[in-house]
Amino acid sequence: MAALDSLILYWSAGGNTRRVAEAAAEGLTAGGAQVALLSVTDGAAEQLDLSIYPLLGLACPSYHFGPPAPMRRFVEQALRRQGVQPTAPTQPLRWGIAMVTYAGPHTGLREATPAGDFLAQGLQHLGRQVRGEWYTVGAFHGDLDQPNNRIGLLGDIRHRPNEHDLGVIRSNALGLATALRWELEAR
Ligand SMILES: Cc1cc2nc3c(=O)[nH]c(=O)nc-3n(C[C@H](O)[C@H](O)[C@H](O)COP(=O)(O)O)c2cc1C
Repeated sequence: MAALDSLILYWSAGGNTRRVAEAAAEGLTAGGAQVALLSVTDGAAEQLDLSIYPLLGLACPSYHFGPPAPMRRFVEQALRRQGVQPTAPTQPLRWGIAMVTYAGPHTGLREATPAGDFLAQGLQHLGRQVRGEWYTVGAFHGDLDQPNNRIGLLGDIRHRPNEHDLGVIRSNALGLATALRWELEAR
C-alpha cells in the first residue's frame, strides 16, 4: 500500500501535549505511516518545507482558551512562508489534524475549541483538508492537587492524560493513517 509521509509539530510546556503528539505518532506508525515529530521551538522546524508532507499534525495546549504564543507564532510564520491563496483552495492529497490538550476547569471542552479551531484554520489556510480535531484532557502542572485539577468541571483530572486517553489518540491515528493510505492508493 502507499506510503504516508507525516509530520507532527507540537508545542508543550509541561509534557501533556508532547505525550499526545507521541501517541499520535505511534498510532500513525502502526497504521503504516512514516512519521517525523518535532517541537515548533526546535530550530529545524522553521526550516522545514511543510508542503511536502501529505499529513501535517499540529498539537498544543489551550492557554486562556487559545493557542499559546509559540504555536500562534509558528503558524503565522508558516502561512507567511508558504503563502495563502485567495479562497485557500484545498490541495490534492494534503491533510491535517489538530490536537489540543486542556484542563477545562471552568467551562470544559469549550475552553479548548478556540485553540483547536485556530490550528484547524491554520491547516486549512495551508490548503489542507482537516481530518481530525482531537481534544485530550491534561492536568495543570505545578501543584497537582490544586482545585482546578480536582473539583473543576471535569472532576479529578490529576492523572490525565492517562493510558486510556493516549490509547484513544493512538487508535484515532491508526484509523486515520489506514484511511489516508487507501486514499493515496486510489489515486
Ligand atoms: C498559562 C496557562 C493557561 C491555561 N489556560 C487554560 C484554559 O484557558 N483552558 C483550559 O482548559 N486549560 C488551560 N490550561 C491547562 C493546560 O491547557 C493543560 O494543562 C495542558 O494539558 C498543558 O499542556 P502541556 O503539558 O503540554 O504544556 C492552562 C495552562 C496554563 C499553564
